[in-house]
Amino acid sequence: MSIKVAPSILSADYVNLQRDVELVEKAGAEYVHIDVMDGMFVPSISYGAAWVKALKPVTNMVLDVHLMVVNPERYINEFADAGSDIIGVHYEATPHIHRALQMIKAKGVKAEVVINPGTAVELIKPVLHMVDQVLIMTVNPGFGGQKFLPESIDKIKQLAAIKAEMGLDFDIEIDGGVNGDTVKAAYDAGATVAVAGSYVYDKVDPAAKIAAMKDLTK
Ligand code: DX5
Ligand code: ZN
Repeated sequence: MSIKVAPSILSADYVNLQRDVELVEKAGAEYVHIDVMDGMFVPSISYGAAWVKALKPVTNMVLDVHLMVVNPERYINEFADAGSDIIGVHYEATPHIHRALQMIKAKGVKAEVVINPGTAVELIKPVLHMVDQVLIMTVNPGFGGQKFLPESIDKIKQLAAIKAEMGLDFDIEIDGGVNGDTVKAAYDAGATVAVAGSYVYDKVDPAAKIAAMKDLTK
């Protein structure tokens, strides 16, 4: 099965958001990736739960919410009520990652743990049985348009091995610098979902970019 594609609206045209979301859905993207930034965990401020609520009625894609927020427990219920299908919380953003994941699951939403490039895969072993998806950041979070960190490939392989060893069934998502040059190696290493922002939305023809990612991972 080809990799599932999750275009990040961080690189979309915000005044034409519905158009840009419909465009990628038509092109076969399975998820839409929503990057929430609080100006603390990462330098920028992006958008909040109101955007999830606004997108919910205009798409059937999985609403994949990536919380780059300090102490995400403060916002989990709000994002769940807004219609998030998956909520991702950073291991580094809270001393209580287990509790944060419990809160997501208690709302009936799919739970995701996210790790930064500087965080070892072993550290999330104790919560892997709880998650539907793990996001391995393939750049340092905060901005679109950065370069894929090649050392991420080993982390994806490590996680895929742990997943097999523990007999678990979560998706492995990658985020940052994913494009036609980097997606195949990540897929071969075990990634099952690829976030792509600038590659899909910058310049021309998002549909062709999605087709290329699917084609490269057949
Ligand atoms: C970065 C965000 C990403 C971002 C990826 O902090 O988490 O989702 O949109 O952008 P690209 O694909 O341009 O690296
Ligand atoms: Zn993201």
